[in-house]
Amino acid sequence: AQNAKESLYIVSQFAAAFFVKQLWETDEGRGIGLSYFKERGFREDILKKFEVGYSPDVWDAMTQNAINSGHKLEFLEQTGLSIKNDNGKIYDRFRGRVMFPIHNFTGRVIGFGGRTLKTDKNVPKYVNSPESEIYHKSNVLYGLFHAKKAIRDLDNCYLAEGYADVLSVHQAGIENVVASSGTSLTVEQIKLIGRFTQNVTILFDGDAAGIKASLRGLDMILEEGLNVKIVSFPDGHDPDSYMHHVGAGAFKTYLENNRKDFILYKANVLLKDAGDDPIKRAGIIRDIVESIAKIPDQIKASVFIRECSSLLEIEEKILLSELNKMRSAKS
Ligand code: GTP
Ligand code: MN
Ligand code: MN
Ligand code: MN
Ligand code: MN
Repeated sequence: AQNAKESLYIVSQFAAAFFVKQLWETDEGRGIGLSYFKERGFREDILKKFEVGYSPDVWDAMTQNAINSGHKLEFLEQTGLSIKNDNGKIYDRFRGRVMFPIHNFTGRVIGFGGRTLKTDKNVPKYVNSPESEIYHKSNVLYGLFHAKKAIRDLDNCYLAEGYADVLSVHQAGIENVVASSGTSLTVEQIKLIGRFTQNVTILFDGDAAGIKASLRGLDMILEEGLNVKIVSFPDGHDPDSYMHHVGAGAFKTYLENNRKDFILYKANVLLKDAGDDPIKRAGIIRDIVESIAKIPDQIKASVFIRECSSLLEIEEKILLSELNKMRSAKS
Protein backbone atom coordinates (compact mmCIF):
# COMPACT_ATOMS: atom_id res chain seq x y z
CA ALA A 1 0.00 0.00 0.00
CA GLN A 2 2.94 2.29 0.70
CA ASN A 3 4.09 2.00 -2.91
CA ALA A 4 0.60 2.52 -4.29
CA LYS A 5 0.29 5.71 -2.27
CA GLU A 6 3.69 6.87 -3.47
CA SER A 7 2.53 6.32 -7.06
CA LEU A 8 -0.45 8.59 -6.45
CA TYR A 9 1.83 11.34 -5.13
CA ILE A 10 4.02 10.94 -8.20
CA VAL A 11 1.22 11.23 -10.77
CA SER A 12 -0.23 14.20 -8.87
CA GLN A 13 3.12 15.95 -8.97
CA PHE A 14 3.42 15.13 -12.67
CA ALA A 15 0.00 16.65 -13.35
CA ALA A 16 0.83 19.77 -11.33
CA ALA A 17 4.00 20.29 -13.37
CA PHE A 18 2.05 19.67 -16.59
CA PHE A 19 -0.56 22.32 -15.68
CA VAL A 20 2.17 24.82 -14.73
CA LYS A 21 3.92 24.27 -18.06
CA GLN A 22 0.63 24.73 -19.92
CA LEU A 23 -0.01 28.04 -18.17
CA TRP A 24 3.35 29.63 -18.83
CA GLU A 25 4.58 27.98 -22.02
CA THR A 26 1.62 27.46 -24.35
CA ASP A 27 -0.39 29.97 -26.36
CA GLU A 28 -3.67 28.67 -24.96
CA GLY A 29 -2.38 28.76 -21.38
CA ARG A 30 -0.89 32.22 -21.64
CA GLY A 31 -3.70 33.65 -23.72
CA ILE A 32 -6.51 32.30 -21.58
CA GLY A 33 -5.21 31.16 -18.18
CA LEU A 34 -2.42 33.61 -17.47
CA SER A 35 -4.44 36.57 -18.79
CA TYR A 36 -7.25 35.54 -16.50
CA PHE A 37 -4.99 35.59 -13.43
CA LYS A 38 -3.49 38.91 -14.52
CA GLU A 39 -6.92 40.45 -15.02
CA ARG A 40 -7.78 39.44 -11.48
CA GLY A 41 -4.68 41.28 -10.30
CA PHE A 42 -2.46 38.39 -9.28
CA ARG A 43 1.29 38.95 -9.35
CA GLU A 44 3.55 36.45 -11.10
CA ASP A 45 5.55 35.64 -7.97
CA ILE A 46 2.33 34.61 -6.19
CA LEU A 47 1.20 32.47 -9.13
CA LYS A 48 4.59 30.74 -9.10
CA LYS A 49 4.71 30.30 -5.35
CA PHE A 50 1.35 28.50 -5.33
CA GLU A 51 2.22 26.60 -8.54
CA VAL A 52 -1.07 27.45 -10.20
CA GLY A 53 -1.56 26.14 -13.71
CA TYR A 54 -3.91 25.71 -16.63
CA SER A 55 -5.62 22.58 -17.96
CA PRO A 56 -6.09 22.72 -21.73
CA ASP A 57 -9.62 22.63 -23.08
CA VAL A 58 -9.11 19.24 -24.74
CA TRP A 59 -10.60 15.85 -23.97
CA ASP A 60 -7.53 14.03 -22.62
CA ALA A 61 -4.37 16.17 -22.98
CA MET A 62 -3.11 15.57 -19.45
CA THR A 63 -3.86 11.84 -19.44
CA GLN A 64 -2.12 11.24 -22.79
CA ASN A 65 0.87 13.27 -21.70
CA ALA A 66 1.17 11.31 -18.47
CA ILE A 67 0.86 7.96 -20.21
CA ASN A 68 3.42 8.95 -22.82
CA SER A 69 5.75 9.80 -19.95
CA GLY A 70 5.34 6.30 -18.54
CA HIS A 71 2.71 6.88 -15.84
CA LYS A 72 0.07 4.23 -15.28
CA LEU A 73 -3.58 4.95 -16.06
CA GLU A 74 -4.53 3.01 -12.93
CA PHE A 75 -2.89 5.65 -10.70
CA LEU A 76 -4.24 8.56 -12.73
CA GLU A 77 -7.72 7.13 -12.24
CA GLN A 78 -7.17 6.61 -8.51
CA THR A 79 -6.39 10.30 -8.04
CA GLY A 80 -9.46 11.25 -10.08
CA LEU A 81 -7.29 13.13 -12.59
CA SER A 82 -8.42 10.75 -15.33
CA ILE A 83 -11.92 9.37 -15.64
CA LYS A 84 -13.20 6.42 -17.67
CA ASN A 85 -16.70 6.93 -19.05
CA ASP A 86 -19.30 4.21 -19.61
CA ASN A 87 -17.92 3.47 -23.09
CA GLY A 88 -14.43 2.93 -21.67
CA LYS A 89 -13.16 6.20 -23.09
CA ILE A 90 -10.67 8.05 -20.89
CA TYR A 91 -10.88 11.78 -20.30
CA ASP A 92 -9.35 14.46 -18.08
CA ARG A 93 -11.34 15.62 -15.06
CA PHE A 94 -9.94 19.13 -15.47
CA ARG A 95 -10.36 20.81 -18.86
CA GLY A 96 -10.13 24.49 -19.71
CA ARG A 97 -9.72 25.54 -16.10
CA VAL A 98 -7.14 27.42 -14.10
CA MET A 99 -5.64 24.98 -11.65
CA PHE A 100 -4.82 25.30 -7.97
CA PRO A 101 -2.77 22.36 -6.71
CA ILE A 102 -3.53 21.36 -3.13
CA HIS A 103 -0.51 20.41 -1.04
CA ASN A 104 -0.41 18.48 2.19
CA PHE A 105 1.48 20.20 4.97
CA THR A 106 4.75 18.56 3.99
CA GLY A 107 4.38 20.12 0.55
CA ARG A 108 3.37 17.17 -1.61
CA VAL A 109 0.60 17.62 -4.16
CA ILE A 110 -2.46 15.60 -3.15
CA GLY A 111 -5.27 17.11 -5.23
CA PHE A 112 -6.51 20.05 -7.26
CA GLY A 113 -9.15 22.70 -7.47
CA GLY A 114 -9.91 23.86 -11.01
CA ARG A 115 -11.78 27.09 -11.71
CA THR A 116 -13.80 27.56 -14.84
CA LEU A 117 -13.19 30.63 -17.00
CA LYS A 118 -16.73 30.54 -18.33
CA THR A 119 -19.45 32.76 -16.96
CA ASP A 120 -22.12 30.19 -17.84
CA LYS A 121 -24.17 29.54 -14.69
CA ASN A 122 -24.65 25.88 -15.63
CA VAL A 123 -20.93 25.16 -15.41
CA PRO A 124 -19.73 24.49 -11.86
CA LYS A 125 -17.36 27.31 -10.83
CA TYR A 126 -14.92 24.93 -9.19
CA VAL A 127 -14.24 21.28 -9.83
CA ASN A 128 -12.23 19.60 -7.11
CA SER A 129 -10.32 16.33 -6.94
CA PRO A 130 -12.34 13.52 -5.38
CA GLU A 131 -11.26 11.78 -2.19
CA SER A 132 -8.41 9.36 -2.77
CA GLU A 133 -5.83 7.36 -0.85
CA ILE A 134 -3.77 10.55 -0.57
CA TYR A 135 -6.51 13.21 -0.42
CA HIS A 136 -8.92 13.31 2.48
CA LYS A 137 -10.71 16.64 2.15
CA SER A 138 -11.81 16.96 5.72
CA ASN A 139 -8.18 16.72 6.94
CA VAL A 140 -6.69 19.25 4.56
CA LEU A 141 -6.33 23.01 4.72
CA TYR A 142 -5.49 24.74 1.47
CA GLY A 143 -2.29 26.79 1.80
CA LEU A 144 -1.09 25.26 5.07
CA PHE A 145 2.26 24.24 3.63
CA HIS A 146 3.00 27.85 2.65
CA ALA A 147 1.53 29.29 5.83
CA LYS A 148 2.64 27.05 8.67
CA LYS A 149 5.84 28.89 9.56
CA ALA A 150 4.11 32.28 9.63
CA ILE A 151 1.20 30.81 11.63
CA ARG A 152 3.65 29.64 14.31
CA ASP A 153 5.72 32.84 14.27
CA LEU A 154 2.71 35.17 14.41
CA ASP A 155 0.72 32.83 16.65
CA ASN A 156 -2.44 33.39 14.62
CA CYS A 157 -4.09 31.71 11.66
CA TYR A 158 -6.34 33.53 9.22
CA LEU A 159 -9.01 31.20 7.90
CA ALA A 160 -10.63 32.02 4.54
CA GLU A 161 -13.07 30.20 2.27
CA GLY A 162 -11.34 29.87 -1.07
CA TYR A 163 -8.18 29.39 -3.09
CA ALA A 164 -8.19 32.92 -4.50
CA ASP A 165 -8.54 34.36 -0.99
CA VAL A 166 -5.37 32.58 0.16
CA LEU A 167 -3.39 33.87 -2.82
CA SER A 168 -4.61 37.44 -2.45
CA VAL A 169 -4.00 37.62 1.28
CA HIS A 170 -0.46 36.36 0.64
CA GLN A 171 -0.06 38.95 -2.05
CA ALA A 172 -0.86 41.58 0.57
CA GLY A 173 2.15 40.30 2.51
CA ILE A 174 0.16 38.26 5.02
CA GLU A 175 1.37 34.67 4.95
CA ASN A 176 -0.48 33.10 7.89
CA VAL A 177 -3.61 32.23 5.93
CA VAL A 178 -5.33 28.99 4.93
CA ALA A 179 -8.69 28.03 3.45
CA SER A 180 -11.11 25.22 4.10
CA SER A 181 -11.69 25.05 0.29
CA GLY A 182 -14.03 22.54 -1.19
CA THR A 183 -15.68 21.53 2.08
CA SER A 184 -17.36 23.32 4.92
CA LEU A 185 -15.05 23.70 7.91
CA THR A 186 -14.43 20.43 9.77
CA VAL A 187 -13.32 19.56 13.30
CA GLU A 188 -10.24 17.86 11.82
CA GLN A 189 -9.25 21.08 10.07
CA ILE A 190 -9.56 23.01 13.34
CA LYS A 191 -7.43 20.42 15.14
CA LEU A 192 -4.85 20.77 12.38
CA ILE A 193 -4.68 24.54 12.97
CA GLY A 194 -4.39 23.79 16.69
CA ARG A 195 -1.04 22.11 16.07
CA PHE A 196 0.38 25.49 15.05
CA THR A 197 -1.55 28.09 17.05
CA GLN A 198 -4.49 28.50 19.43
CA ASN A 199 -5.69 31.66 17.70
CA VAL A 200 -7.92 31.68 14.63
CA THR A 201 -9.22 34.72 12.77
CA ILE A 202 -12.08 33.95 10.40
CA LEU A 203 -12.07 35.80 7.07
CA PHE A 204 -15.15 34.40 5.38
CA ASP A 205 -17.07 36.04 2.55
CA GLY A 206 -19.30 39.01 3.32
CA ASP A 207 -22.33 37.38 1.69
CA ALA A 208 -25.17 35.54 3.43
CA ALA A 209 -23.49 32.15 2.96
CA GLY A 210 -20.22 33.46 4.39
CA ILE A 211 -21.92 34.96 7.44
CA LYS A 212 -23.76 31.72 8.09
CA ALA A 213 -20.51 29.76 7.74
CA SER A 214 -18.77 32.19 10.14
CA LEU A 215 -21.40 31.61 12.83
CA ARG A 216 -21.08 27.86 12.46
CA GLY A 217 -17.28 28.02 12.26
CA LEU A 218 -16.82 30.15 15.35
CA ASP A 219 -18.86 27.74 17.47
CA MET A 220 -16.80 24.81 16.20
CA ILE A 221 -13.55 26.64 16.94
CA LEU A 222 -14.69 27.56 20.46
CA GLU A 223 -15.71 23.97 21.06
CA GLU A 224 -12.17 22.83 20.20
CA GLY A 225 -10.88 25.20 22.86
CA LEU A 226 -9.25 27.63 20.44
CA ASN A 227 -9.67 31.39 20.50
CA VAL A 228 -11.58 32.93 17.63
CA LYS A 229 -11.90 36.38 16.13
CA ILE A 230 -13.75 37.44 13.01
CA VAL A 231 -13.12 40.07 10.37
CA SER A 232 -16.10 40.69 8.11
CA PHE A 233 -16.02 42.39 4.73
CA PRO A 234 -18.42 45.02 3.40
CA ASP A 235 -20.74 44.85 0.38
CA GLY A 236 -20.47 41.11 -0.17
CA HIS A 237 -16.70 41.29 -0.68
CA ASP A 238 -14.50 38.32 0.06
CA PRO A 239 -10.86 38.72 1.17
CA ASP A 240 -9.68 38.34 -2.42
CA SER A 241 -12.00 40.91 -3.95
CA TYR A 242 -11.51 43.31 -1.04
CA MET A 243 -7.72 43.14 -1.22
CA HIS A 244 -7.79 43.99 -4.93
CA HIS A 245 -10.45 46.65 -4.30
CA VAL A 246 -8.56 48.62 -1.63
CA GLY A 247 -4.95 47.59 -2.24
CA ALA A 248 -2.42 45.69 -0.11
CA GLY A 249 -1.65 48.43 2.42
CA ALA A 250 -5.24 49.37 3.17
CA PHE A 251 -6.18 45.70 3.31
CA LYS A 252 -3.59 44.99 6.00
CA THR A 253 -4.78 47.95 8.04
CA TYR A 254 -8.37 46.80 7.61
CA LEU A 255 -7.57 43.37 9.05
CA GLU A 256 -5.81 44.93 12.01
CA ASN A 257 -8.60 47.39 12.80
CA ASN A 258 -11.64 45.21 12.17
CA ARG A 259 -10.90 42.11 14.15
CA LYS A 260 -13.90 41.45 16.38
CA ASP A 261 -14.26 38.90 19.13
CA PHE A 262 -17.15 36.51 18.69
CA ILE A 263 -19.44 38.27 21.17
CA LEU A 264 -19.21 41.56 19.35
CA TYR A 265 -19.46 39.84 15.97
CA LYS A 266 -22.56 37.86 16.87
CA ALA A 267 -24.14 40.87 18.53
CA ASN A 268 -23.52 42.94 15.39
CA VAL A 269 -24.80 40.32 12.97
CA LEU A 270 -27.82 39.24 14.99
CA LEU A 271 -28.96 42.54 16.48
CA LYS A 272 -29.09 44.07 13.02
CA ASP A 273 -32.47 42.50 12.27
CA ALA A 274 -33.79 42.46 15.85
CA GLY A 275 -34.16 46.21 16.32
CA ASP A 276 -35.80 47.01 19.65
CA ASP A 277 -37.99 43.92 19.77
CA PRO A 278 -37.36 42.62 23.33
CA ILE A 279 -38.31 39.02 22.51
CA LYS A 280 -35.87 38.94 19.62
CA ARG A 281 -33.17 40.57 21.74
CA ALA A 282 -33.63 37.92 24.42
CA GLY A 283 -33.26 35.20 21.79
CA ILE A 284 -30.03 36.74 20.59
CA ILE A 285 -28.60 37.00 24.07
CA ARG A 286 -29.37 33.33 24.59
CA ASP A 287 -27.72 32.55 21.25
CA ILE A 288 -24.55 34.33 22.34
CA VAL A 289 -24.52 32.58 25.71
CA GLU A 290 -24.86 29.30 23.82
CA SER A 291 -21.59 30.07 22.04
CA ILE A 292 -19.95 30.92 25.35
CA ALA A 293 -21.19 27.60 26.74
CA LYS A 294 -19.07 25.81 24.12
CA ILE A 295 -15.83 27.11 25.60
CA PRO A 296 -14.27 24.29 27.64
CA ASP A 297 -12.24 26.65 29.86
CA GLN A 298 -14.57 28.01 32.56
CA ILE A 299 -12.43 30.99 33.41
CA LYS A 300 -12.34 32.13 29.79
CA ALA A 301 -16.09 31.60 29.60
CA SER A 302 -16.66 33.82 32.62
CA VAL A 303 -14.62 36.61 31.04
CA PHE A 304 -16.86 36.49 27.98
CA ILE A 305 -19.97 36.48 30.17
CA ARG A 306 -18.74 39.72 31.70
CA GLU A 307 -18.18 41.24 28.27
CA CYS A 308 -21.60 40.10 27.09
CA SER A 309 -23.17 41.58 30.20
CA SER A 310 -21.73 45.03 29.69
CA LEU A 311 -22.24 45.04 25.92
CA LEU A 312 -25.89 43.98 26.05
CA GLU A 313 -26.69 45.55 29.39
CA ILE A 314 -27.88 42.38 31.07
CA GLU A 315 -26.98 41.47 34.62
CA GLU A 316 -24.03 39.11 34.77
CA LYS A 317 -25.86 36.96 37.33
CA ILE A 318 -28.65 36.21 34.86
CA LEU A 319 -26.23 35.33 32.08
CA LEU A 320 -24.27 33.05 34.41
CA SER A 321 -27.36 31.18 35.48
CA GLU A 322 -28.32 30.78 31.80
CA LEU A 323 -24.80 29.54 31.06
CA ASN A 324 -24.95 26.98 33.85
CA LYS A 325 -28.31 25.73 32.65
CA MET A 326 -26.89 25.20 29.18
CA ARG A 327 -23.80 23.47 30.51
CA SER A 328 -25.78 21.04 32.64
CA ALA A 329 -28.18 20.36 29.75
CA LYS A 330 -25.16 19.36 27.64
CA SER A 331 -23.60 16.91 30.11
P1 GTP B 1 -13.52 33.08 -7.06
O1 GTP B 1 -14.81 33.41 -7.76
O2 GTP B 1 -12.54 32.44 -7.96
O3 GTP B 1 -12.96 34.24 -6.31
O4 GTP B 1 -13.84 31.92 -6.03
P2 GTP B 1 -14.27 32.00 -4.51
O5 GTP B 1 -13.23 31.24 -3.73
O6 GTP B 1 -14.59 33.38 -4.07
O7 GTP B 1 -15.59 31.14 -4.60
P3 GTP B 1 -16.74 30.98 -3.55
O8 GTP B 1 -16.70 32.03 -2.51
O9 GTP B 1 -17.97 30.78 -4.32
O10 GTP B 1 -16.38 29.57 -2.91
C1 GTP B 1 -15.38 29.37 -1.91
C2 GTP B 1 -14.73 28.02 -2.12
O11 GTP B 1 -15.74 27.00 -2.19
C3 GTP B 1 -13.98 27.89 -3.44
O12 GTP B 1 -12.65 28.37 -3.37
C4 GTP B 1 -14.06 26.41 -3.70
O13 GTP B 1 -13.10 25.71 -2.95
C5 GTP B 1 -15.42 26.04 -3.19
N1 GTP B 1 -16.41 26.11 -4.30
C6 GTP B 1 -16.97 27.21 -4.86
N2 GTP B 1 -17.80 26.92 -5.86
C7 GTP B 1 -17.75 25.57 -5.97
C8 GTP B 1 -18.40 24.65 -6.85
O14 GTP B 1 -19.15 25.01 -7.77
N3 GTP B 1 -18.14 23.33 -6.64
C9 GTP B 1 -17.29 22.90 -5.65
N4 GTP B 1 -17.08 21.59 -5.50
N5 GTP B 1 -16.66 23.74 -4.82
C10 GTP B 1 -16.88 25.06 -4.96
MN1 MN C 1 -19.94 29.21 -4.78
MN1 MN D 1 -18.91 32.42 -1.38
MN1 MN E 1 -15.57 33.88 -2.24
MN1 MN F 1 -13.64 35.22 -4.59
